Amino acid sequence: MSLSKKPYRGTRDFFPDLMRLRNFIFQKMSLVSEQFCYEPYDGPLLEDIELYLAKSGEELINEQIYSFQDRGERTVVIRPEMTPTVARMVAQIHREVAKPIRWYAIPNLMRYEKPQRGRLREFWQYNADIFGAGIYGQVEILQLAVSIMLAFGANKDQFEILVNDRKFVDIVFSNVLKLNDEKKNLLYKLLDKKSKIPDEKYQNELATILQDKESINIFHQYTNLSSFSEVTNFIESLPPENHHLELLTLFKKIESLKLSEFIKYDPTIVRGLDYYTGLVFEIFDKHPENRRAIAGGGAYANLLQIFDEQPLEGVGFGMGEVPLTDFLTTHNLKPDFSKPKADYLIAYLDDSAEELAFYITDQLRLHNSRVELFFEPTKPKKVFNYAEKKDFEFLIMIGEEDQKNDLLRIKKLSTREETIKKTKDFLEGLI
Ligand code: HAM
Repeated sequence: MSLSKKPYRGTRDFFPDLMRLRNFIFQKMSLVSEQFCYEPYDGPLLEDIELYLAKSGEELINEQIYSFQDRGERTVVIRPEMTPTVARMVAQIHREVAKPIRWYAIPNLMRYEKPQRGRLREFWQYNADIFGAGIYGQVEILQLAVSIMLAFGANKDQFEILVNDRKFVDIVFSNVLKLNDEKKNLLYKLLDKKSKIPDEKYQNELATILQDKESINIFHQYTNLSSFSEVTNFIESLPPENHHLELLTLFKKIESLKLSEFIKYDPTIVRGLDYYTGLVFEIFDKHPENRRAIAGGGAYANLLQIFDEQPLEGVGFGMGEVPLTDFLTTHNLKPDFSKPKADYLIAYLDDSAEELAFYITDQLRLHNSRVELFFEPTKPKKVFNYAEKKDFEFLIMIGEEDQKNDLLRIKKLSTREETIKKTKDFLEGLI
């Protein structure tokens, strides 16, 4: 039986064209992170299962993790997300370092999912998290998320950030609807899947969780909230002990920083992960044919406590390169990576020019250019054919005559424009 050449289901082989795209995406994400002074970090691929049992949530644990017993009979997990790892790392050092702590990473993660558009089993996920910055951290994380989308050329008509706040939802569920933990949990789950199930099913499930009309009405009032001002009015209509002032302050800051053209309130955003305690958000593609989440995140106040540490609020988000690529493709924002890019192609037409060709190649590389040398003496036609397969900016073809006259012909391939220079002048002109 011959072996399959295909990679494991839901994973990809990154051939150079896909790698060029991946590098482009990672470079943009890193650049914007560095502009916000986030520092890169990384963690191990494997973690103890306990790390996720503590607070990651049922779906991730029961349905999505890859786990195995190691030789010491410990249950080990291939990381399905980065937040527990970053919390574990911050728990080791937060006492000694200046706060806020701003970190980013682009790890590969694995989740046992049904591979489909936007979702694979192995994917890379950009993570940015800030610790110890309170509400300013929340604002900055939203700013960072917007800046990353803008850096890819996206505009406000193409994406939106939908926000909600778990504390606010909790106030509505516990203090207004007076639900017990079990019912609250069911209602959270129902909200989380509202957009994915038929309305009839949603209404039926709602009626089994909230049995009286009055509660259903209040719940509908909540799910009809669609703007910061409506939420503000709703909160202000509650008794003062239920006023969630931090959320109102966040709305004001979002508005004053002109982020509100990108950020909308959405009562159905609650997020599936258990550790979120305040702000929760998802970035959505606005295109009707690609209406899905590109990123998700939120604030988690208590994650460090699982390591017996003092609370230190973290807030952050994860953005997968798979849904981001779909977004860029949908909106025509993905540069063409079909051909490798280089600065120079150097070729020579006879043996006598070989040494000079090697020398020029070497000099250009020393000056940080990306240079390919066409091996063996060749004919111009062959060189031109080859040059078309790649994206070279310049071609230098060295012939016998030019070599004798100490001349170089530097052809800009996009315009076919040719500059003729003395070899020495050309090399001296390199910066
Ligand atoms: P999450 O919502 O599970 O959050 O994932 C965040 C993003 O990762 C998704 O919006 C999507 O872009 C990408 N993603 C998730 N699953 C897949 C998949 N199977 N294939 C491709 N992309 C995927 C978290 O993971 C949180 N730990 C994020 C976070 C960081 N919260 C605070 N800091």
